[in-house]
Amino acid sequence: VNERVAVKIVRNIDCFRRAAESEIAVLEEINSLDDDNIFACVRMLDWFDHDGHICIVLELLGLSTFEFLRQNRFAPFSVEQIRHMAFQLFRAVCFLHRNKLTHTDLKPENILFVSSDCGPEDDGETVSPTARDATLSSLDVKVVDFGTATFDHEHHESLVSTRHYRAPEVILDLGWNQSCDVWSLGCVLMEFYLGRILFPTHDSLEHLAMMEKVLGPIPPRLLKQTRKQHYVLNERLNWDQHSDSDVSIRKHCQPLKQFMLRKDEDERQLLDLLGCMLEYDVCRRITLEEALWHPFFNQSLHILYL
Ligand SMILES: *[C@@H]1O[C@H](CO)[C@@H](O)[C@H](O)[C@H]1NC(C)=O
Repeated sequence: VNERVAVKIVRNIDCFRRAAESEIAVLEEINSLDDDNIFACVRMLDWFDHDGHICIVLELLGLSTFEFLRQNRFAPFSVEQIRHMAFQLFRAVCFLHRNKLTHTDLKPENILFVSSDCGPEDDGETVSPTARDATLSSLDVKVVDFGTATFDHEHHESLVSTRHYRAPEVILDLGWNQSCDVWSLGCVLMEFYLGRILFPTHDSLEHLAMMEKVLGPIPPRLLKQTRKQHYVLNERLNWDQHSDSDVSIRKHCQPLKQFMLRKDEDERQLLDLLGCMLEYDVCRRITLEEALWHPFFNQSLHILYL
Protein backbone atom coordinates (compact mmCIF):
# COMPACT_ATOMS: atom_id res chain seq x y z
CA VAL A 1 0.00 0.00 0.00
CA ASN A 2 1.20 3.50 -0.83
CA GLU A 3 4.14 2.06 -2.75
CA ARG A 4 5.30 4.20 -5.64
CA VAL A 5 5.59 2.34 -8.94
CA ALA A 6 6.44 3.08 -12.56
CA VAL A 7 3.83 2.56 -15.28
CA LYS A 8 4.90 2.09 -18.88
CA ILE A 9 1.94 3.13 -21.06
CA VAL A 10 2.18 1.78 -24.57
CA ARG A 11 0.64 3.54 -27.57
CA ASN A 12 -2.36 1.82 -29.12
CA ILE A 13 -0.58 1.02 -32.36
CA ASP A 14 -0.19 -2.54 -33.61
CA CYS A 15 3.59 -2.83 -33.61
CA PHE A 16 3.91 -1.21 -30.17
CA ARG A 17 1.17 -3.45 -28.75
CA ARG A 18 2.94 -6.52 -30.07
CA ALA A 19 6.23 -5.39 -28.51
CA ALA A 20 4.42 -4.77 -25.19
CA GLU A 21 2.78 -8.21 -25.24
CA SER A 22 6.15 -9.76 -25.94
CA GLU A 23 7.73 -7.70 -23.13
CA ILE A 24 5.08 -8.92 -20.67
CA ALA A 25 5.73 -12.56 -21.65
CA VAL A 26 9.49 -12.09 -21.25
CA LEU A 27 9.18 -10.30 -17.89
CA GLU A 28 6.80 -12.98 -16.55
CA GLU A 29 9.28 -15.65 -17.57
CA ILE A 30 12.48 -14.06 -16.27
CA ASN A 31 10.91 -12.77 -13.05
CA SER A 32 9.54 -16.23 -12.26
CA LEU A 33 12.95 -17.79 -12.95
CA ASP A 34 14.45 -15.35 -10.43
CA ASP A 35 12.17 -15.68 -7.38
CA ASP A 36 14.80 -14.28 -5.06
CA ASN A 37 15.43 -11.20 -7.19
CA ILE A 38 19.18 -11.71 -7.36
CA PHE A 39 19.66 -10.85 -11.04
CA ALA A 40 19.52 -7.18 -11.99
CA CYS A 41 16.50 -7.22 -14.30
CA VAL A 42 13.52 -4.94 -13.63
CA ARG A 43 10.53 -6.55 -11.84
CA MET A 44 7.05 -6.39 -13.34
CA LEU A 45 4.38 -5.95 -10.67
CA ASP A 46 1.27 -6.10 -12.84
CA TRP A 47 -0.12 -5.19 -16.23
CA PHE A 48 -3.52 -4.20 -17.66
CA ASP A 49 -5.19 -2.94 -20.79
CA HIS A 50 -6.66 0.57 -20.68
CA ASP A 51 -8.67 1.43 -23.82
CA GLY A 52 -6.27 -0.53 -26.00
CA HIS A 53 -3.20 0.95 -24.32
CA ILE A 54 -1.22 -1.78 -22.60
CA CYS A 55 0.04 -0.53 -19.23
CA ILE A 56 2.94 -2.36 -17.61
CA VAL A 57 3.40 -1.72 -13.89
CA LEU A 58 7.06 -1.95 -12.90
CA GLU A 59 9.10 -1.37 -9.78
CA LEU A 60 10.18 2.26 -9.59
CA LEU A 61 13.88 2.73 -10.34
CA GLY A 62 16.16 5.81 -10.49
CA LEU A 63 17.81 7.70 -13.35
CA SER A 64 19.16 5.90 -16.37
CA THR A 65 22.94 5.79 -16.63
CA PHE A 66 22.58 7.94 -19.75
CA GLU A 67 20.60 10.62 -17.91
CA PHE A 68 23.04 10.45 -15.02
CA LEU A 69 26.02 11.01 -17.33
CA ARG A 70 24.17 13.88 -19.01
CA GLN A 71 23.38 15.58 -15.70
CA ASN A 72 27.05 15.19 -14.81
CA ARG A 73 28.06 16.93 -18.03
CA PHE A 74 29.37 13.59 -19.32
CA ALA A 75 32.08 13.21 -16.72
CA PRO A 76 33.21 9.57 -17.05
CA PHE A 77 32.72 6.92 -14.37
CA SER A 78 35.80 5.70 -12.51
CA VAL A 79 37.21 2.23 -13.20
CA GLU A 80 36.00 1.12 -9.73
CA GLN A 81 32.47 2.32 -10.52
CA ILE A 82 32.54 0.58 -13.91
CA ARG A 83 33.67 -2.67 -12.27
CA HIS A 84 30.73 -2.57 -9.86
CA MET A 85 28.14 -1.86 -12.58
CA ALA A 86 29.69 -4.25 -15.12
CA PHE A 87 29.62 -7.17 -12.71
CA GLN A 88 25.90 -6.69 -12.06
CA LEU A 89 25.11 -6.19 -15.74
CA PHE A 90 27.09 -9.24 -16.82
CA ARG A 91 25.35 -11.45 -14.24
CA ALA A 92 21.93 -10.14 -15.30
CA VAL A 93 22.48 -10.52 -19.04
CA CYS A 94 24.28 -13.86 -18.57
CA PHE A 95 21.13 -15.02 -16.76
CA LEU A 96 19.07 -13.99 -19.82
CA HIS A 97 21.49 -15.82 -22.12
CA ARG A 98 21.36 -19.02 -20.06
CA ASN A 99 17.59 -18.88 -20.45
CA LYS A 100 17.78 -18.66 -24.25
CA LEU A 101 17.10 -14.94 -24.47
CA THR A 102 18.95 -12.09 -26.19
CA HIS A 103 18.11 -8.57 -24.97
CA THR A 104 19.15 -6.93 -28.31
CA ASP A 105 18.90 -3.31 -27.12
CA LEU A 106 21.44 -2.80 -24.37
CA LYS A 107 22.41 0.87 -24.09
CA PRO A 108 22.89 3.42 -21.29
CA GLU A 109 19.22 4.52 -21.63
CA ASN A 110 18.14 0.95 -20.75
CA ILE A 111 20.39 0.63 -17.70
CA LEU A 112 18.86 2.31 -14.67
CA PHE A 113 20.22 3.04 -11.23
CA VAL A 114 18.10 1.29 -8.63
CA SER A 115 18.08 4.54 -6.70
CA SER A 116 19.48 7.91 -7.67
CA ASP A 117 19.22 9.29 -4.14
CA CYS A 118 22.27 11.31 -3.37
CA GLY A 119 23.35 9.92 -0.02
CA PRO A 120 21.93 10.76 3.41
CA GLU A 121 21.83 14.56 2.95
CA ASP A 122 19.84 14.33 -0.28
CA ASP A 123 16.95 16.76 -0.28
CA GLY A 124 15.99 16.13 -3.89
CA GLU A 125 15.81 19.26 -6.00
CA THR A 126 18.70 21.35 -4.69
CA VAL A 127 21.59 19.00 -5.37
CA SER A 128 23.79 20.45 -8.10
CA PRO A 129 24.74 18.16 -10.97
CA THR A 130 28.41 18.07 -10.07
CA ALA A 131 27.73 17.27 -6.43
CA ARG A 132 25.73 14.23 -7.49
CA ASP A 133 28.73 12.29 -8.65
CA ALA A 134 30.41 12.36 -5.29
CA THR A 135 27.27 11.46 -3.38
CA LEU A 136 25.42 8.87 -5.45
CA SER A 137 24.62 6.51 -2.60
CA SER A 138 24.60 3.28 -4.57
CA LEU A 139 25.83 2.16 -7.97
CA ASP A 140 23.40 -0.74 -8.14
CA VAL A 141 21.84 -0.91 -11.60
CA LYS A 142 19.09 -2.86 -13.38
CA VAL A 143 18.38 -3.71 -17.00
CA VAL A 144 15.04 -2.52 -18.44
CA ASP A 145 13.09 -2.60 -21.72
CA PHE A 146 12.51 -6.19 -22.75
CA GLY A 147 10.29 -5.16 -25.68
CA THR A 148 12.72 -6.51 -28.28
CA ALA A 149 14.19 -9.34 -26.20
CA THR A 150 14.15 -12.45 -28.38
CA PHE A 151 14.02 -16.15 -27.45
CA ASP A 152 16.26 -18.51 -29.44
CA HIS A 153 13.25 -20.21 -31.05
CA GLU A 154 11.62 -16.91 -32.12
CA HIS A 155 12.03 -15.12 -35.43
CA HIS A 156 15.22 -13.00 -35.35
CA GLU A 157 14.60 -9.58 -36.94
CA SER A 158 17.50 -8.85 -39.27
CA LEU A 159 18.01 -5.31 -37.90
CA VAL A 160 18.26 -5.03 -34.11
CA SER A 161 19.85 -2.71 -31.51
CA THR A 162 20.19 1.05 -31.40
CA ARG A 163 22.77 2.26 -33.95
CA HIS A 164 25.76 3.03 -31.74
CA TYR A 165 25.58 -0.29 -29.87
CA ARG A 166 24.92 -2.45 -32.95
CA ALA A 167 27.28 -5.38 -33.51
CA PRO A 168 29.16 -5.76 -36.83
CA GLU A 169 27.36 -9.05 -37.66
CA VAL A 170 24.04 -7.17 -37.43
CA ILE A 171 25.24 -4.34 -39.69
CA LEU A 172 26.61 -6.91 -42.16
CA ASP A 173 23.36 -8.93 -41.94
CA LEU A 174 25.19 -12.16 -41.08
CA GLY A 175 22.68 -13.34 -38.46
CA TRP A 176 23.07 -12.84 -34.72
CA ASN A 177 22.61 -14.46 -31.33
CA GLN A 178 23.46 -13.73 -27.68
CA SER A 179 26.91 -12.48 -28.63
CA CYS A 180 25.43 -9.25 -30.06
CA ASP A 181 24.56 -8.29 -26.43
CA VAL A 182 28.23 -8.75 -25.53
CA TRP A 183 29.24 -6.27 -28.23
CA SER A 184 26.61 -3.76 -27.05
CA LEU A 185 27.80 -4.05 -23.45
CA GLY A 186 31.37 -3.48 -24.64
CA CYS A 187 30.26 -0.21 -26.27
CA VAL A 188 28.32 0.75 -23.13
CA LEU A 189 31.26 0.17 -20.77
CA MET A 190 33.55 2.07 -23.11
CA GLU A 191 31.05 4.95 -23.01
CA PHE A 192 31.08 4.86 -19.19
CA TYR A 193 34.89 4.98 -19.34
CA LEU A 194 35.12 7.84 -21.87
CA GLY A 195 31.98 9.78 -20.94
CA ARG A 196 31.07 9.79 -24.61
CA ILE A 197 29.80 7.44 -27.30
CA LEU A 198 32.53 5.15 -28.69
CA PHE A 199 31.20 5.16 -32.27
CA PRO A 200 29.43 8.53 -32.83
CA THR A 201 27.88 8.05 -36.26
CA HIS A 202 24.54 7.72 -38.04
CA ASP A 203 25.78 5.84 -41.08
CA SER A 204 26.55 2.11 -41.34
CA LEU A 205 29.57 2.36 -43.62
CA GLU A 206 31.10 5.12 -41.50
CA HIS A 207 30.32 2.98 -38.43
CA LEU A 208 32.33 0.07 -39.88
CA ALA A 209 35.17 2.44 -40.81
CA MET A 210 35.22 3.70 -37.20
CA MET A 211 35.40 0.12 -35.95
CA GLU A 212 38.44 -0.45 -38.16
CA LYS A 213 40.16 2.62 -36.68
CA VAL A 214 39.59 1.33 -33.14
CA LEU A 215 39.79 -2.45 -33.60
CA GLY A 216 41.77 -3.04 -36.79
CA PRO A 217 40.61 -4.44 -40.15
CA ILE A 218 37.35 -6.39 -40.37
CA PRO A 219 38.23 -10.04 -41.17
CA PRO A 220 37.90 -10.62 -44.96
CA ARG A 221 35.82 -13.75 -44.23
CA LEU A 222 33.01 -11.58 -42.82
CA LEU A 223 33.20 -9.19 -45.76
CA LYS A 224 32.98 -12.14 -48.16
CA GLN A 225 29.87 -13.52 -46.45
CA THR A 226 27.91 -10.29 -46.12
CA ARG A 227 24.81 -9.72 -48.21
CA LYS A 228 25.61 -6.00 -47.98
CA GLN A 229 28.15 -6.16 -50.81
CA HIS A 230 27.96 -2.39 -51.36
CA TYR A 231 30.09 -2.05 -48.19
CA VAL A 232 32.81 -4.14 -49.83
CA LEU A 233 35.36 -3.47 -52.56
CA ASN A 234 38.14 -5.95 -53.41
CA GLU A 235 37.50 -7.90 -50.19
CA ARG A 236 38.04 -4.80 -48.10
CA LEU A 237 35.75 -2.16 -46.67
CA ASN A 238 34.61 0.17 -49.45
CA TRP A 239 35.94 3.22 -47.65
CA ASP A 240 38.32 5.90 -48.90
CA GLN A 241 41.19 6.27 -46.41
CA HIS A 242 42.04 9.67 -47.86
CA SER A 243 38.59 11.26 -47.82
CA ASP A 244 37.43 14.15 -45.67
CA SER A 245 35.17 11.74 -43.77
CA ASP A 246 38.22 9.69 -42.86
CA VAL A 247 39.99 12.76 -41.49
CA SER A 248 36.92 13.60 -39.42
CA ILE A 249 36.51 10.12 -37.92
CA ARG A 250 40.18 10.04 -36.96
CA LYS A 251 39.31 12.85 -34.53
CA HIS A 252 37.11 10.46 -32.51
CA CYS A 253 38.68 7.10 -33.17
CA GLN A 254 42.06 5.63 -32.31
CA PRO A 255 43.26 2.11 -31.50
CA LEU A 256 41.44 0.80 -28.42
CA LYS A 257 44.43 0.64 -26.07
CA GLN A 258 45.31 4.26 -26.85
CA PHE A 259 42.14 5.40 -25.10
CA MET A 260 43.77 4.44 -21.80
CA LEU A 261 44.03 7.41 -19.50
CA ARG A 262 46.27 6.31 -16.64
CA LYS A 263 47.76 3.00 -17.78
CA ASP A 264 47.62 1.34 -14.36
CA GLU A 265 46.89 -2.35 -13.85
CA ASP A 266 43.13 -1.84 -13.33
CA GLU A 267 42.75 0.06 -16.57
CA ARG A 268 44.87 -2.44 -18.43
CA GLN A 269 42.52 -5.22 -17.27
CA LEU A 270 39.43 -3.22 -18.21
CA LEU A 271 40.72 -2.47 -21.71
CA ASP A 272 41.78 -6.10 -22.13
CA LEU A 273 38.24 -7.23 -21.25
CA LEU A 274 36.72 -4.66 -23.63
CA GLY A 275 38.99 -5.92 -26.40
CA CYS A 276 37.60 -9.44 -25.89
CA MET A 277 34.00 -8.11 -26.01
CA LEU A 278 34.61 -5.99 -29.12
CA GLU A 279 35.84 -8.96 -31.15
CA TYR A 280 34.49 -9.00 -34.74
CA ASP A 281 34.29 -12.77 -35.02
CA VAL A 282 31.35 -14.07 -32.94
CA CYS A 283 33.05 -17.46 -32.59
CA ARG A 284 35.96 -15.76 -30.85
CA ARG A 285 34.03 -13.08 -28.93
CA ILE A 286 34.06 -13.67 -25.18
CA THR A 287 30.80 -14.92 -23.61
CA LEU A 288 29.48 -13.25 -20.47
CA GLU A 289 29.98 -16.49 -18.56
CA GLU A 290 33.68 -16.25 -19.43
CA ALA A 291 33.79 -12.48 -18.93
CA LEU A 292 32.68 -12.85 -15.30
CA TRP A 293 35.91 -14.80 -14.67
CA HIS A 294 38.12 -12.20 -16.37
CA PRO A 295 40.87 -10.85 -14.04
CA PHE A 296 39.23 -7.38 -14.24
CA PHE A 297 36.75 -8.68 -11.68
CA ASN A 298 38.27 -8.95 -8.28
CA GLN A 299 37.53 -12.51 -7.22
CA SER A 300 36.09 -11.27 -3.93
CA LEU A 301 33.06 -10.08 -5.93
CA HIS A 302 32.29 -13.72 -6.66
CA ILE A 303 32.45 -14.69 -3.01
CA LEU A 304 29.98 -11.90 -2.27
CA TYR A 305 27.54 -12.79 -5.01
CA LEU A 306 27.72 -16.49 -5.93
C1 LIG B 1 26.42 -17.70 -31.55
O1 LIG B 1 26.82 -18.04 -32.84
C2 LIG B 1 28.20 -18.37 -32.98
C3 LIG B 1 28.49 -18.59 -34.45
O2 LIG B 1 27.58 -19.45 -35.03
C4 LIG B 1 28.52 -19.60 -32.12
O3 LIG B 1 29.89 -19.90 -32.20
C5 LIG B 1 28.14 -19.30 -30.69
O4 LIG B 1 28.34 -20.44 -29.89
C6 LIG B 1 26.68 -18.84 -30.60
N1 LIG B 1 26.43 -18.40 -29.23
C7 LIG B 1 25.38 -18.84 -28.52
C8 LIG B 1 25.28 -18.32 -27.14
O5 LIG B 1 24.56 -19.62 -28.97
